[in-house]
Parts: sequence; structure tokens; C-alpha cells
Amino acid sequence: MKKNQTPVYVRGGYVTQFGELYEQGLLDLLVEAAHASLSQAAMEVSALDAIYVSNMLGAQTDNIQHLGAQLSGILGVSIPAFRFEAACASGGVAASSAYRDVSGGHYNNVLVLGGEKMTEQSPQMVNSGLMQATTQDEQMSGITFAGLYALLAAHYLDTYTLERNILSWVPLLMHRNGATNPKAQFQKLITLKQIEAARAVTYPFRLFDCSPLSDGAAAIIISSEPSSVRMIGSAIATDSPDIGSRQDLLSFNATKQAFQNLDLSPDWHKNLVALEAHDCFSIALIIAVEDLGLAQPGYGWKLVQNLYTNPEKYPWTLNQSGGLKAAGHPVGATGIKQIVSVYQQLQSAKKNSLGLTHNLGGTGGTAVINAFTSC
Ligand code: COA
Repeated sequence: MKKNQTPVYVRGGYVTQFGELYEQGLLDLLVEAAHASLSQAAMEVSALDAIYVSNMLGAQTDNIQHLGAQLSGILGVSIPAFRFEAACASGGVAASSAYRDVSGGHYNNVLVLGGEKMTEQSPQMVNSGLMQATTQDEQMSGITFAGLYALLAAHYLDTYTLERNILSWVPLLMHRNGATNPKAQFQKLITLKQIEAARAVTYPFRLFDCSPLSDGAAAIIISSEPSSVRMIGSAIATDSPDIGSRQDLLSFNATKQAFQNLDLSPDWHKNLVALEAHDCFSIALIIAVEDLGLAQPGYGWKLVQNLYTNPEKYPWTLNQSGGLKAAGHPVGATGIKQIVSVYQQLQSAKKNSLGLTHNLGGTGGTAVINAFTSC
């Protein structure tokens, strides 16, 4: 934190059910999350200075835009309120912006919420909406995000001479974690055998290597009013949205840049208790832990395997919520759900414990890392 900045805290913190939620539209989910988060923070709506809403596909899925005003109208306030969109990193970016505005002394309380409705429209329509996050050339090729990440995974396996099944440690760990999260879309344990036998999506991915299409919302309050968890830093970095113009397909430059800009102390990992990192596809998590310096290049999968087989050896959790893979990935909610998970874990951690969220947009066009500590 720079000198003379206001200390920033997290309050509230609520995640709706994630999954196929036919009874609720996008606004219903956002309003549920807003009210519940305010109620958990014991805060009146009149205490809010601004509302930052994260959403990517509402125009297509729910025929709705102008989400800031829509929410202000429903909540009965007349404060600055608007949408943040950075593809799958929208939630992390909204929280990062709230951090900047509270630490800069502009606001005391910002309601940061995000949501997405992805299961009611056709998967073709939703995938085509998601692909708007990349360049028009990449869109014109007809490829999907599963296809793009599969190219990265195939390159990873080829470069490090690894078999497809090393990817499976990711869904195995995510589903075990998801089974402990009552809000998760998938709460069932799965086996390596089931993962390998599941239907192929696009080589080398099978079904469980992919995050699902999901509905859901999440909300937190970023505040200058002290709580048990402080937000100590935030960094956003960007890169070209297409993988075609990247020099290095084995890491995400935006993640590395954001992490460097976050400027944590060199022994930061000693205090780490909770990391929520972006696992939209199994390879994304493997690359994320390498980019964050927690594993050597080519060994991210091994770290995930060790976390699965010997969790007692690690004082920190990786995607305790179940990640995007098992908890679900309602795009606009994801970055905020990650924060709620870290916030909840830090509430019972010893003083000065560290929690990080890593939220990626597209195939690494945006990366945002938010850092938190227990007080
Ligand atoms: N993981 C585990 N199970 C999944 C799943 C996933 N990713 N996606 C669907 N399922 C399950 C469904 O719950 C359903 O189970 P049921 O038969 O017990 O009800 C079954 O698989 C079939 O579901 P369906 O919706 O027909 O699957 P699909 O073939 O239409 O979609 C994917 C599967 C992987 C193609 C789809 O989830 C997808 O496109 N994911 C990627 C989303 C994405 O790109 N997000 C942005 C990231 S950058």
C-alpha cells in the first residue's frame, strides 16, 4: 500500500447458489447477493457511496444493460453505479477498482457485485457471446475458449513430454473441494477413472477439464470501516486478447505482470493460507500456479497433484470453493466469489495470514490479482 492511503477492508460477502437456476433472472440473482451482503455487513443501503457491477453477457442472455441504474432503482439509491466488463476477469477488476477508490479516499463503502445467467440460452449463443472477448480474427476462426485453452494444453503436454492424464489432478482436487461447498454447481466427488472415461470435448480436454456454463451472483462490500479482513493490494495487467500474437504460450504475461506490480514481499508464500486461482480449464490452473511462482515451469500439475494427495503438507488451500471447475463459472460473479472464499477463510486464520485471488479474462488478455490479510 502506498503512503497516505486509507486502509481498505472487506465486509459482507455472499454467494448465491451456482448452477442451473431457472427460477431467477440476472437481476434477481444480483439483488439477492446485494441484500444478503449488506445484511451480513449489518449495513444500510444508505451507507453505500457507489455500486460496481460485474457482468459480461447480460445484453445477450437477459436482454438487459445499464445494470448500475437498474440496481440503484431496485435498491432505492441515487449514487454512482455502473458496470465493469473484462470478460471472465470482470469481477476481479470491479473489486480492484473499488479498492483503488476506497484507498484513495474517494468512497467509504462500495458494493461490488457480479452475476451471470448462462444456462437458459443455447450453448452456441453463450459461447459466441463469450468469444466476443477475443479478437475478430480469432472469432472468425470459429474456435471456442475450450478450443483455445486446448491448444495451450496440447502445447504444454508436448513441450514437457507429459501425458494427458496429468491434467486430471485439477478436476480431481476441484471436485473434492466443491463437495464441501453447498453453493457449488457440482458437489459430487469424482475419480480419476471417471475423468479419463468422460467424453472428449476437444483434444486434450475431456468434460471435467472444462468449467461449466453457470448461473449465479456474488457480492462483497469494499470499505474503509475496519473488519477482520483487510484488502492490502490489487494489480491489473493486460495483454493482447488473442493467443496468436503471444510470444509465450506456456505462461500468461498478464498474470506475471500483475503479480510483479502487486509487489508482495519475497517471502509472501510463507503467510499464504488461501489462494483462489483461475481454473476455467485444467491447464489454466496449472499455468496460474507456475506464473505465480508456486511451481517451476512444467511442474504446476505436480503441485496440484501434491495438494490433492498430501494436503497436510501445505498450510494453504487452492480453490477451496471448488474453483470455477466445480463451484461453477457464472462469468461476472467469478472474481467476486473468489474474494468471498478467501475472505471467509481469512476470518478464521491467524493474524497477518495472506489470501490471494487470481482472476483471468479470456485466454489471459486481462489478469487481476487481489491481496488480503487477516487482522
Ligand atoms: N463439468 C462437469 N460436468 C459438466 C460440465 C462441466 N464443465 N458441463 C456440463 N456438465 C454435465 C451437466 O451437468 C450434465 O450432467 P447431467 O447429464 O447429469 O445433467 C452433462 O454434463 C451434460 O451437460 P451439457 O450441458 O449437455 O454439456 P455440454 O456438452 O453442452 O457442455 C461443455 C459441456 C464443456 C462444452 C460446456 O460446459 C462449456 O462450453 N464449457 C466452457 C465454458 C466456457 O468457455 N467458459 C468461459 C471460460 S474462458
